[in-house]
Amino acid sequence: MSNLAALDDPVGESLRGRHAHLARRQGRAATYVPGVATFSALTADPAEETWADLAALLGPGEFADMFSSPATPPPDWEPVFVLDGRQLIWPGGCPEYPVDVVELGADDVPAMLDLALRTRPGPFWPRTHELGTYVGIRDDGALVAMAGERLRPPGWTEISAVCTAPEARGRGHAAALVRALVARITTRGERAFLHVADSNTAAIALYDGLGFTTRKAVTFRGFRTP
Ligand SMILES: CC(C)(COP(=O)(O)OP(=O)(O)OC[C@H]1O[C@@H](n2cnc3c(N)ncnc32)[C@H](O)[C@@H]1OP(=O)(O)O)[C@@H](O)C(=O)NCCC(=O)NCCS
Repeated sequence: MSNLAALDDPVGESLRGRHAHLARRQGRAATYVPGVATFSALTADPAEETWADLAALLGPGEFADMFSSPATPPPDWEPVFVLDGRQLIWPGGCPEYPVDVVELGADDVPAMLDLALRTRPGPFWPRTHELGTYVGIRDDGALVAMAGERLRPPGWTEISAVCTAPEARGRGHAAALVRALVARITTRGERAFLHVADSNTAAIALYDGLGFTTRKAVTFRGFRTP
């Protein structure tokens, strides 16, 4: 049985656990190495000294993407963005998916970056694919859809970067890729989860239709360090 509490701090749990090799740390703060992800986490109760650790880790005037953490920084941390969303979980079971789903690797990074730039599924950087397995669908050799594994708290894997090129939408590509990842995650004894912005009605319809259920509302927040 996967531990639901691990989903309340998915960034911190990942940085302490299966993404420890991709983490930078200072005192009670941690973040991903550049080029992989911008998410940061506080590894203790967020007292003023803990925020000071994060400021020292990131440097002055830098972006601190706190993901879904509800912790409030000291007043000299400038808010950069606030985005309401929800956390969804897969109820269980191993779905089927079509065979034209292919695994993507380092050679595919330029095409993945281009697709992410055109579709904006969320943050995607040159080394983001190192967080897990990324899969795609090609049409005449061109990458037209992708999805991948991102945060990895114990017992769980987050599905992320779900996107389809505008000219290839409505053909079931995103549904096939999410099913393929859920099957992969379920087969290794974990459960899938994901995050979506409340404003993204197309993606919410996609995930609802596949059978994901909402676990809780979350607010994504980013700040600038003093
Ligand atoms: C959301 C997105 C990935 C859907 O890709 P897609 O390949 O067109 O999706 P599919 O064809 O697999 O659609 C599967 C189901 O999702 C739902 N869906 C997909 N697009 C939808 C839309 N624009 N409006 C309503 N429902 C939609 C439908 O239920 C659909 O099933 P149906 O075709 O039987 O009605 C695509 O619109 C996209 O790339 N958006 C921008 C990036 C993004 O926001 N990613 C999600 C981040 S959380």
